[in-house]
Amino acid sequence: MKVCVVGLGYIGLPTACILALNGHNVVGIDINESVVDMINKGLVPINENKLDSTLKTLISQNKIIAKTTAESADAYIICVPTPLDDNFSCNMHYVSNAMESILPCVCPGNMIIIESTVPPGTIKNIIKPAIENRGFNIGEDIYLAYCPERVLPGNIFNEIVYNDRIIGGVTDKCEKVVSTFYKTFVKGNIFITDSKTAEMTKIAENIYRDVNIALANQLSILCNELEINSLKVFNLANKHPRVNFLSPGPGVGGHCLPVDPYFVLKDKNDSSSIIVLSRKINENMPNYIASLAKKIINYIPSPKVTLWGVAYKGNIDDTRNSPSIQIINKLKELNCDFQVYDPVVKNCCIETKEESLKDSNLLIILTDHDEFKSLDPKLVLRTMRNPIILDSKNILDSISFMLNGIIVYNFGNFHLLN
Ligand SMILES: NC(=O)c1ccc[n+]([C@@H]2O[C@H](COP(=O)([O-])OP(=O)(O)OC[C@H]3O[C@@H](n4cnc5c(N)ncnc54)[C@H](O)[C@@H]3O)[C@@H](O)[C@H]2O)c1
Repeated sequence: MKVCVVGLGYIGLPTACILALNGHNVVGIDINESVVDMINKGLVPINENKLDSTLKTLISQNKIIAKTTAESADAYIICVPTPLDDNFSCNMHYVSNAMESILPCVCPGNMIIIESTVPPGTIKNIIKPAIENRGFNIGEDIYLAYCPERVLPGNIFNEIVYNDRIIGGVTDKCEKVVSTFYKTFVKGNIFITDSKTAEMTKIAENIYRDVNIALANQLSILCNELEINSLKVFNLANKHPRVNFLSPGPGVGGHCLPVDPYFVLKDKNDSSSIIVLSRKINENMPNYIASLAKKIINYIPSPKVTLWGVAYKGNIDDTRNSPSIQIINKLKELNCDFQVYDPVVKNCCIETKEESLKDSNLLIILTDHDEFKSLDPKLVLRTMRNPIILDSKNILDSISFMLNGIIVYNFGNFHLLN
């Protein structure tokens, strides 16, 4: 089957590769010419496990090609961004443009699938009429469905194949045709529903995670006020068979959790909404971490701070809405001298961890990259002026660092800074 994947970013490019690996003839479409050029040379514009080697092989075998304009195909999969607009609603500009670009190529018998996260009702109220305006009948000559993506960045290749998927079709025939197509590359279960339920399910999943992270963050702050180790509390509480606290941290980043909850909020300031409150708690976490850093460096003349991690998540290079950026901006306001190091995000900062730690008074860990988890205490003692670490991801074994004479603050003992 010939498939056009529209939008070759974190979701579209791995999806295009998986389709090609499963025998489909894939044309990737992106409006960004430099992305298209890179892909056709077998170079990846983003860092994702296995993407580099897979793309190189597929390009060399002519199983995938990237272009800037759409062409005729059997199926179109839309994976373009859906960020927030100035009013905290979903900015549909990219999806509408992507639809406009494919519609002149669409023929009877084609599938159109939206994987971009969109507000409930989008498929029926916006996408379906746009297709019908071209004279097509949905379910008779065009098969339209919403198929949300729920992959974990860093493990996308595995999760695209093995995760369970939801297919929200517009008619029974749309559901049947699209699910038959997804079964050619998905090994997880496929659950079928209507498009509006599928749209809401995707957003509900992200709200669930955002609210539960906010709960862990708020309880941690409360524990610190009460001089209780919140990490021990979560660890013990999670021994309960029906309790599963997530981890507290410096905030929530990425394209999904900080964005998607707003798609279903009528009033982004509604103080009675747990969704709004959770967003506010998570949005305030970078300030909380910056205020703790301020307490540590307050007594140090001309302090030098090292920040580890710009990506919003461990072992990936995605910096969108990263709490680290907010914390960096807060440190700029404090006029303190700082160095940033991230081994996964290319060309962003200082080259080596040794260099980043040299003469530093405070190391702040903001991302749980594997390289940070294996930090050698000897390196800290050899390079830093003051061996003090603020571990906002709770990834270091604080006891063994303390035994080496290194002070480690994390969510378990921030109360020591009160
Ligand atoms: N990144 C994730 O982990 C994730 C997970 C689940 C769902 N999603 C959703 O998937 C969608 C895509 O997210 P992403 O992270 O892959 O975005 P991205 O920004 O990484 O990639 C989007 C790509 O689309 C291209 N593009 C924009 N408009 C276009 C157009 N009209 N025609 C062709 N290409 C166009 C951009 O140039 C870019 O390369 C979003 O709705 C997002 O919410 C993302």
